[in-house]
Amino acid sequence: MALFSTMSKTELLNAQSELLDKYNRFKAGNIQLDMSRGKPAPAQLNISNDILKLSIDEYINCDGIDVRNYGILDGISECRRLFSELLDIPADNIIIGGNSSLNLIYDAFTRLYIFGSLGSKPWGKLDRVKILCPVPGYDRHFAICEELGFEMINIPMTPEGPDMDMVERLAAEDESVKAIICVPLYSNPDGICYSDKTVERLAKMPTAAEDFKIFWDNAYAVHHVFKEVKLLNIFDVCKKYGTDDRIIYFFSTSKVTFPGSGIALVASGDRYIEDIRRRFGKQTIGYNKVDQMRTCKFFGSPEGIRAHMRKLGDMLKEKFNIVLDTLNREFEDGELLKWHKPMGGYFISVFTMDGCAKETVRLAKEAGLVLTNAGASYPYGKDPNDSNIRLAPSYPDTDDLKKAMELFCICVKLASVNKLLNNIEKGDTQ
Ligand SMILES: Cc1ncc(COP(=O)(O)O)c(C=O)c1O
Repeated sequence: MALFSTMSKTELLNAQSELLDKYNRFKAGNIQLDMSRGKPAPAQLNISNDILKLSIDEYINCDGIDVRNYGILDGISECRRLFSELLDIPADNIIIGGNSSLNLIYDAFTRLYIFGSLGSKPWGKLDRVKILCPVPGYDRHFAICEELGFEMINIPMTPEGPDMDMVERLAAEDESVKAIICVPLYSNPDGICYSDKTVERLAKMPTAAEDFKIFWDNAYAVHHVFKEVKLLNIFDVCKKYGTDDRIIYFFSTSKVTFPGSGIALVASGDRYIEDIRRRFGKQTIGYNKVDQMRTCKFFGSPEGIRAHMRKLGDMLKEKFNIVLDTLNREFEDGELLKWHKPMGGYFISVFTMDGCAKETVRLAKEAGLVLTNAGASYPYGKDPNDSNIRLAPSYPDTDDLKKAMELFCICVKLASVNKLLNNIEKGDTQ
């Protein structure tokens, strides 16, 4: 097929009319499809159901502690050991928190806002606080920063992670640059994995702010789909450079067992984890140890978690393949749409021609397909190129997903053709 950008006005009008026919047929079908959030499908949740069937008699932990009662602020020892072995972080540097890593991230930001870190001035008392935000990124991270009045700086993503030349320069020259937010493995939404070099550069870079933090949201640490990508252990590297108190590491079982009903953890260097522990002591008497116990009993070992994730990965693979095969078939030449094939995680992120993302999402919504808002993957909801759309293939069943992708492709093409026709009207043929 000829490239749309080389078509004459008449050819484009013909293409538009054909696309509108297809689009209107979908619209008439009154469909209701949702690819907006990365929620596990019911079939994925089902494989964790036995976690709810554990014996009610199993409430004394390996240290003889009754997990039904108060106490053990930082998590029962078998649970800290399980995640210590899984993620290769010393157990002493881990605190098992509540049910949500996002909650721990919010806590971490507000703690810095109120108290600072290890004697530094509280961020809330500073005139300006800037946060480096690799983009596209996770909308809920940006929402926290926006709420606290932090200034967010877009850092473009490369195939190896954030543009480290830019990160190093900004962190070194500006004392108000206080943190970077990273989803280092199968990033949300691009599925990009940070290279060893990127991790090393983050660990060793000089920072003007003495209390600079790396928010290491390793939400997809074990969520391999097509292959297992190995991430360099940031604790090991930071130890080498004496910067381990710079790390605030997060993980949860939200997309391992049940989102919102799993367990989450935070980890940091020797000094900063003590600071967090002390502050948690004022915040709570202890987190939910019953769920910690259930999680440990259900998986038994890190290998138990890895085996479980292989099953979940196989389920997701089928859906990722539906999306990727459709994109390959419909946008083979890369003229109207570009994307990066993720090896794991939960999302596939696509880039339309500049200025077409919002219109694509609008068209899809009008025809019954809900997508993540265009711009959501950028600070302040503003994608400077209006190009990125995050696709979340996990929730719909495979038939719905095929239908959703068919409609999505029509919407991308229609938005692109409309844009090209608009350009011609304006005398701009670029
Ligand atoms: C990068 C990232 N961090 C955190 C979360 C939320 O995790 P939790 O359910 O543990 O709060 C998500 C959920 O999609 C995510 O993609």
